[in-house]
Amino acid sequence: MSTILGPAVTRRSLLANAAGTIAAALVPSTVQSSRSVSELKLVAVPARWPIVGKPHPETEVWSYDGRLPGPEIRVRQGEPVRIIVENKLKQDTTVHWHGIRLPIAMDGVPGLTQPPIKPGESFVYSFTPPDAGTFWYHPHANSLEQLGRGLAGALIVEEPEAIPVDRDVLWLLADWRLRSDVQIASGFGNAMEAAMAGRIGNTVTLNGAVTDEVPVRAGERIRLRLVNAALARIMALRFEDHRPVVVAIDGQPCDPHEPQGSRLLLGPAMRIDVILEMRGEPGRRYRVVDDFYRGFAYWVTELAYDERPQVRAQPLEGSLALPSNPLPEPDLARAERHVLTLQGGMMGGGGIGGMRGMGHGATWGINGRSMTGDGHAGMAPLLTLQLGGSYILTLRNETAFWHPVHFHGHTFRVLSRNGSPVPHRQWADSVLLPPRETVDVAFIADNPGNWMLHCHVTDHQVSGLMTILRVA
Ligand code: C2O
Ligand code: CU
Ligand code: CU
Repeated sequence: MSTILGPAVTRRSLLANAAGTIAAALVPSTVQSSRSVSELKLVAVPARWPIVGKPHPETEVWSYDGRLPGPEIRVRQGEPVRIIVENKLKQDTTVHWHGIRLPIAMDGVPGLTQPPIKPGESFVYSFTPPDAGTFWYHPHANSLEQLGRGLAGALIVEEPEAIPVDRDVLWLLADWRLRSDVQIASGFGNAMEAAMAGRIGNTVTLNGAVTDEVPVRAGERIRLRLVNAALARIMALRFEDHRPVVVAIDGQPCDPHEPQGSRLLLGPAMRIDVILEMRGEPGRRYRVVDDFYRGFAYWVTELAYDERPQVRAQPLEGSLALPSNPLPEPDLARAERHVLTLQGGMMGGGGIGGMRGMGHGATWGINGRSMTGDGHAGMAPLLTLQLGGSYILTLRNETAFWHPVHFHGHTFRVLSRNGSPVPHRQWADSVLLPPRETVDVAFIADNPGNWMLHCHVTDHQVSGLMTILRVA
């Protein structure tokens, strides 16, 4: 069942009682909504959406274009895009194009990189995505509530030549805290949650709805693009009797490999592209389980094989490796090193530790300083990096919680965890730090501007786990 840590409100738990009823099949969003355009419009607007499905009512959400998730935007690598964002919400918003290396003026951080888009107003984002891969977009204004009420969508940058797969499928996973009437519970920004693991919900959706099954056919090869668009929920996905091969992390190609322990670990904001060979039996169903939180395993959906025979007897030939992106390779021998220490949060038993006196509402900090909220003008950078220089950042998590640390405007190479090298040539824009662990990342500071670095557990971000690195 997909409801955890709260009252059972999902269709799935009801289905268990309604002998044999099968819910409507998921229409892959690639069929419904893909666009390949260089100019498009997105409207941020309140809407109603059948998150849980019949017989429950629709849920009041905030959406892009009146639907959940926001439209799957598909653009081409190296081709310019213009996206006009119109704000029909009752509050300011912006859009951040998560993971895209773009000019600072297009980064969507209110106050810092652009004025907020006021209700009734529009802003034109224009950029040329240098990297192919799976990215996503979300607001950077009142982030906790705007993301938590549904504002998120995938931004897919297509390679010039696609790898040989039968289908290219997006699963944008989101986490909601619903009341028993399936409306979104209020209480965003609860200080106690902010000091712990953040606002974890009770209902997980796949492409905007509780999804009991995803239809598949024996023998096909699927490229599955997984996006964790949750506010706070970390996921560890296992595909029963299937062996997904990871081909990209945060949109960036890596050596194709099976994940450690057969689980795909996805912190908030992270993406993983996998190749899934559908080697199951026609007519059978296989669960996709998320068992990240001990004792709270649930299944996200089931792969439901239809009765048709295998598409082909042998798996498709050809390498699974994606063409690499034009990322600048840091010079590790000459890189300048800095340590960023993540501090604060609730320490077992005590009060809110560490950050007393760090400013109003601060629960967390980096190197003893806290920035709160979503970003604003005049934030002083923690470090100034020289344009073109190579840097190694040591991210030290001194806290008792997990943090997906995200850096804007750059993609880094993940070098090591607790001193051991990270295999598979992994690049990323976010890196998940378990409690009390240390990760080294390296990059070239090649994009001038004041760039945010923050934890993507949104409660943590807005209560101090955020800073600015200036590249000049
Ligand atoms: Cu998804 Cu500040 O980022
Ligand atoms: Cu970002
Ligand atoms: Cu965090």
